[in-house]
Amino acid sequence: MTQTALASLMLAHNAGQTLQQEFYTDPEIYQQEMEKIFLKSWLYVGHISQVPNRGDYFLFRMDRESVIIVNSGNGEIRGLLNVCRHRGSRICGEDSGNQKLLVCPYHGWTYELSGALRGAGYTPADFDKKQFSLKQVQVRVFHGMIFINFAADPVPFDEMEKDLDAPLKPYRLAAAKVAHRQNYPLAANWKLAVENYCECYHCKPAHPEYSIAHGRAIPHAEMVEALRPVMERAERCGLTTHSVAKEWIASGPIGADHAFDRYPLYEGHVTGSRDGKPVAPLLGDIKAYDGGCTDMHVGPMTFYLAYCDHVVIYRFTPLSVNSCDCEITWLVRGDAVEGKDYQVEDLTWLWDVTTIADKRIIEANAAGVGSRYYEPGPYMPLEDFAQRFIAWYLHALRM
Ligand code: FES
Ligand code: FE
Repeated sequence: MTQTALASLMLAHNAGQTLQQEFYTDPEIYQQEMEKIFLKSWLYVGHISQVPNRGDYFLFRMDRESVIIVNSGNGEIRGLLNVCRHRGSRICGEDSGNQKLLVCPYHGWTYELSGALRGAGYTPADFDKKQFSLKQVQVRVFHGMIFINFAADPVPFDEMEKDLDAPLKPYRLAAAKVAHRQNYPLAANWKLAVENYCECYHCKPAHPEYSIAHGRAIPHAEMVEALRPVMERAERCGLTTHSVAKEWIASGPIGADHAFDRYPLYEGHVTGSRDGKPVAPLLGDIKAYDGGCTDMHVGPMTFYLAYCDHVVIYRFTPLSVNSCDCEITWLVRGDAVEGKDYQVEDLTWLWDVTTIADKRIIEANAAGVGSRYYEPGPYMPLEDFAQRFIAWYLHALRM
């Protein structure tokens, strides 16, 4: 697809409707998305508790890229491109592990955890090892959450840090730990997954468990009313009443969108669980349950649900034009003991059952969007956020 064809497709978009088919299926539009959104945004890749010791690493995969997120010692986390500087082989094949040195399995080039080339066999006399360090991405660790950015000169992280630092503090996420992680591979374009995450119009028909256990989509005025008693309790519980709304803004630079907002759970429910009862010890400095939940959003693909006793992190990563990965991470306080303070099955029940249903509806959506008979349809009022996401997306493509 030429730039002119893409420009006329964007011009033909009707703001009240879903995107035209090509946006979900065209490999060239997908490549543009990579360059204009994903390779220049701050991307959440994992939690610091996944790499506590020197040499601990895990892989982050997106599109054609694989990044080794490694603890290189002295409190430093690095993001090394998993591409050997000799002839380009992947170096690490395992999803996670611990290595003192990174050794390419092809011809044995050996790298320090800093990415510097330490040794290579039978090199010519004038071979300069310094020229062959592994390439690196930018890394920022914020409240224990590891973010990377592929851009050499990325959009500043600071505004996001400034806005989210105080509201996040009570959760003490740097001292939390990963209780469970689960991947839900989706046979769908990544935007269908994000659109689905951004609206709860589908919650009643698709998520009976969520609708009973958690809350339901309600118009804004009702939400404000229901939130009032929660906000009155929030400060007493050590939580914030603050909100930040810098997400899906269809103007300005792309790469550091963020938001932080609170909403009420059902009366009598204190967390996101099967019966609304706690599933883990209170996080950080939180003194009691206020009956609310925090929605946080960072970058184009990461959404957080922070309850008083645990945090659920949703990460959608594009793998190709018609596939993406949904990874969910459940965080609990760092000193909580599995089997005593929390049971993984209880902790994960709600969002596991909900995501299995989401996988089904997102993949059915992708199949229908790929049909010869698909045409853009109207967004409903309860889908206003999905609509905002699409407006932001088209803005990003225009940049
Ligand atoms: Fe890595 Fe040859 S490709 S050592
Ligand atoms: Fe859903």
